[in-house]
Amino acid sequence: MAFSYSHFDVNRRRINFMTTLMMVSSLLCLIPIGNADDNDKALGASFIFGDSLVDAGNNNYLSTLSKADTTPNGIDFKASGGTPTGRFTNGRTIGDIVGEMMGIPTYATPFLAPNATGKAILSGVNYASGGGGILNATGRIFVNRLGMDVQVDYFNITRKQIDQLLGASSARDYIQKKSIFSVTVGSNDFLNNYLLPVISIGARISQTADSFTDDMINHLRDQLTRLYRLDARKFVVANVGPIGCIPYQKTINQLNENECVDLADKLARQYNAKLKDLLVQLGETLPESTFVYANVYDLVLELITNYRKYGFSTASRACCGNGGQFAGIIPCGPSSSLCTDRDKHVFWDPYHPSEAANVLLAKQLLDGDTKYISPMNLRQLRNH
Ligand SMILES: *[C@@H]1O[C@H](CO)[C@@H](O)[C@H](O)[C@H]1NC(C)=O
Ligand SMILES: *[C@@H]1O[C@H](CO)[C@@H](O)[C@H](O)[C@H]1NC(C)=O
Ligand SMILES: *[C@@H]1O[C@H](CO)[C@@H](O)[C@H](O)[C@H]1NC(C)=O
Repeated sequence: MAFSYSHFDVNRRRINFMTTLMMVSSLLCLIPIGNADDNDKALGASFIFGDSLVDAGNNNYLSTLSKADTTPNGIDFKASGGTPTGRFTNGRTIGDIVGEMMGIPTYATPFLAPNATGKAILSGVNYASGGGGILNATGRIFVNRLGMDVQVDYFNITRKQIDQLLGASSARDYIQKKSIFSVTVGSNDFLNNYLLPVISIGARISQTADSFTDDMINHLRDQLTRLYRLDARKFVVANVGPIGCIPYQKTINQLNENECVDLADKLARQYNAKLKDLLVQLGETLPESTFVYANVYDLVLELITNYRKYGFSTASRACCGNGGQFAGIIPCGPSSSLCTDRDKHVFWDPYHPSEAANVLLAKQLLDGDTKYISPMNLRQLRNH
């Protein structure tokens, strides 16, 4: 099943109208008592956890092999004038775009950046780290990265800062009602852990796919529950995309243009089914919580399968990269070959979607139907 532009334009217009109404009425509420603090808090916060799909620069502050702080990364990122920010794409990540579309005034600041202090954190903080995973061992190959356990520890620090900024009772209210917690993680647990030929060969021999994905789910359950204990209530958790179809996997496995790697895809699908159940279970057991499942797998597969329909000219070749048939071996950097039609590529580099793809994905997460985002979309979650 495909999603069509015309369908969501109509919806968007209707929702835009409603949003305008709501914004007008919340502005009206603010005017009589309006001061700077109310304005800072009016639009809510976005706390972003995960991996390189949503890292906005944390890895710039780590000594790690997983970095995107060199050109041409960020070449289309308007806020920096095209200089690299540490985002692993040519422009905005899905997290940036969703925040922007929800009207949050600044992109969530990377936790490790020196300016992640003071009132800036009321718009949100980004803890995501390239190479990070659910499991601590994931991404060892990069030397340093922030795994999910550490990202939640860091939110615990932010949590206390928000108490200081707003006072305990307003802080709790702000976090429970006006903050969205997004988690985009899991790909590296496969790509840079389970599926690594040498480094984790022991784990792969001693663990079946089924017990490995169970391990991931059990750790994620703990991580989400810890966030809940810190007052997170509105969650959106992305499933793992079709990692068997990314240029890196296609290249190293010498596939044809329209083939995907079976094992990688099977692992992703197995994990995703368990994730969906986990979120239902958490929503039922943790009072007042809402867990939204973002079906990034089907969304990205739709873009890959029907790329021409969405205005792309290729869904197999990386725009920036080197090596093999799909430029899929060497990560994007100053010496990579760079395509000229960046908005016509689904993939920016061997692993990550382009900004053009991220915009389409973000629109569906924000306003799409339950095929891609369930049981409600992000606009509904915000107003929930
Ligand atoms: C913090 O600094 C980064 C660059 O290091 C910049 O991209 C971001 O916009 C700044 N955030 C805020 C809230 O000032
Ligand atoms: C993962 O590492 C962090 C920090 O090093 C530690 O606090 C945490 O307990 C570890 N988690 C597990 C499950 O070993
Ligand atoms: C947050 O940090 C405090 C110590 O400052 C600790 O007692 C508490 O268990 C932590 N909470 C979570 C959910 O990690």
